[in-house]
Amino acid sequence: MIAVAFKSKYGTTEKYAKWIAEEVGADIYPVDEIKADDLEKYDTVVYCGGLYVGGIMGLAFIKKNYWKFRKKKVIVVAVGSTLKKGDAIAEIKNKNFSEAMKTGVKLFILRGGLNYPQMHIFDRFLMFLLVTSIKFKKQSNLDDDSKGILATYGKVVDFTNKKTIAPIVHAITKV
Ligand SMILES: Cc1cc2nc3c(=O)[nH]c(=O)nc-3n(C[C@H](O)[C@H](O)[C@H](O)COP(=O)(O)O)c2cc1C
Repeated sequence: MIAVAFKSKYGTTEKYAKWIAEEVGADIYPVDEIKADDLEKYDTVVYCGGLYVGGIMGLAFIKKNYWKFRKKKVIVVAVGSTLKKGDAIAEIKNKNFSEAMKTGVKLFILRGGLNYPQMHIFDRFLMFLLVTSIKFKKQSNLDDDSKGILATYGKVVDFTNKKTIAPIVHAITKV
């Protein structure tokens, strides 16, 4: 049995969580509405969380309870706005995973979106600070993340794509 738990602020992570759950026939729960013991009956737990300033939203639930989940297959899906490759993925793992999770848990990163006009004022301010700090850097040395943030600043962008869940579905279903 498979459980998908998620935490999403603007809906893109929830969309992916629903797509994944549908595809693999999983039960789906907002992480704030469950306790670790509610997941006891499942042999696979997929956690989906939005990426905010490098942190995976709500992942504390998995971290705190990982000792209870250690015999299960645990997969984490982080949803961010920029395209992540090699080093950037390793960085997210380092920042968010406990030592035990680093060996036992697979991390996938998917692309969500940004909707500046509908963004909470505090989030918009954070993005303004981030963009300002990027603009002060040497533009020829910018990493992919920074370039992505600049290119989408102030816009409405939606990179969600159902096809991109394929490797996750494969990781969930393979024995
Ligand atoms: C304040 C703020 C910080 C963000 N930080 C990151 C980040 O560090 N890395 C990233 O890839 N995306 C970042 N994003 C983009 C979100 O991850 C993206 O909008 C994602 O789709 C949000 O998921 P949600 O719709 O489920 O909340 C940030 C967005 C906001 C508003």
